[in-house]
Amino acid sequence: MDRSERFVLLASGAVMLGFFAALIYAAIGLGLSVPTCVSVAPFTTGQVIDRGGQRYEVHLVAKMWAFDPPEIRLPTGADVDLYVSAQDVTHGVYIEHTNVNVMAVPGAVNAARVRFATPGTYTMLCHEYCGIGHQNMAGKFIIGAAPPAAVASAGAATAAGADLFVQKGCVACHSRDGAPGVGPTLKGVLGRHETLADGGSLVVDEVFIRQQLRTPNATLIKGFQPVMPALPLTDAELEALVEYVKTL
Ligand code: CUA
Repeated sequence: MDRSERFVLLASGAVMLGFFAALIYAAIGLGLSVPTCVSVAPFTTGQVIDRGGQRYEVHLVAKMWAFDPPEIRLPTGADVDLYVSAQDVTHGVYIEHTNVNVMAVPGAVNAARVRFATPGTYTMLCHEYCGIGHQNMAGKFIIGAAPPAAVASAGAATAAGADLFVQKGCVACHSRDGAPGVGPTLKGVLGRHETLADGGSLVVDEVFIRQQLRTPNATLIKGFQPVMPALPLTDAELEALVEYVKTL
C-alpha cells in the first residue's frame, strides 16, 4: 500500500474515532439528548386546552386500546397543536384527511400541527400494531358539530358508564351490536347463558359482570382467550360500567 493511501486511511479512521468519542462524551459526560422543539413534558392524561382565537392545544394519550380523549369536538377552522404520548406501548396516530401521522411513544411527546378547515368527522386510527385490540383502536375529531344532546331517559350512572366504555377501551374488544370480537359481545349480556372454558355454565348477572371487570380472566367464557387487561377503576367507575353494560 502506498504511504499516502495508508495516511488517508489512518486519518479518516482517527476522525471517526473522534466523532464517536465526542458523541459518547456528550451523551454520558454532558447528559445531552437528541434536541427537540417539543416543550410539553410527557403526560398521561388527555385534555383539550383552548388557547383563544381558534387555537387549541390537544394532549392525546394512546393506550391499549383507546385514545384519551376518545372524541374531540372543535369548531370549524380550529388550529390545533397536537401533542401525542402513550401510556403503555408504542402506538401510532393517523387522522384521516389531514397530514397527521405520528408515533405515540411512552415517555416521549410527539407533535403535529393541523387546521380543521372543513366541518365533519375525522376518524383517528392507531397504525402501529399494539396488541390484540389494535384493529379496533380508534377515536375521532368532530369538527363544527353541536355538543351531543344529553341522553334524557338514561340515569347519570348509565351515561357515565357509556363514556367509560369508550374511554377505557372496552369498545375495542366488545361489540354492543352482537358483532363478533376479541371478547364476547355485550349485546343482551344480562341474563345470557354462557358456557365456560372449564365446561361449566352460568347465567350472566350483575355480580358476574362486576367480577369480570375486577378480575378479568378469573372465569373464562368458552371460545375466548384470557387477554382482557385488569382496568384501574374506581368503585364509582365500576358501578357506572356495570349499570351501562346491563342496559345493552
Ligand atoms: Cu394502538 Cu395499535
